[in-house]
Amino acid sequence: MSRLDLFIDRMVSQRACLDAAARLIADSHGPVFELGLGNGRTYHHLREILPNRQIHVFERAVASHPDSTPPDDMLILGDVNQTLPDALARFGATAALVHADLGG
Ligand SMILES: C[S@@+](CC[C@H](N)C(=O)[O-])C[C@H]1O[C@@H](n2cnc3c(N)ncnc32)[C@H](O)[C@@H]1O
Repeated sequence: MSRLDLFIDRMVSQRACLDAAARLIADSHGPVFELGLGNGRTYHHLREILPNRQIHVFERAVASHPDSTPPDDMLILGDVNQTLPDALARFGATAALVHADLGG
């Protein structure tokens, strides 16, 4: 299996997991937390499949595609080791879905 095959499989799996998670939370309330914005591909997908959800994005340095950059009030800048505990104090244990893609 080539590296290209592996990359494609990883992306297909990630999309399938996000789509399944979106179905699982359909009947529950609460925001979505996206940990790691990166290029913004998964954030963009979450916006597509969960158009009525508040999606808070945690990232230490924004470098996303302009189409996939959250508005300032939905962006939580800094190291998640600090900002995630802060978010618990701010939101309580309310998140319906946490997607963590922080890389290696
Ligand atoms: C693999 S990328 C995310 C890719 C994204 N899901 C996408 O589809 O484009 C990982 C991101 O997590 C961020 N990140 C990694 N560790 C972090 C940390 N401790 N706190 C905040 N952001 C972090 C990096 O800056 C990077 O932008």
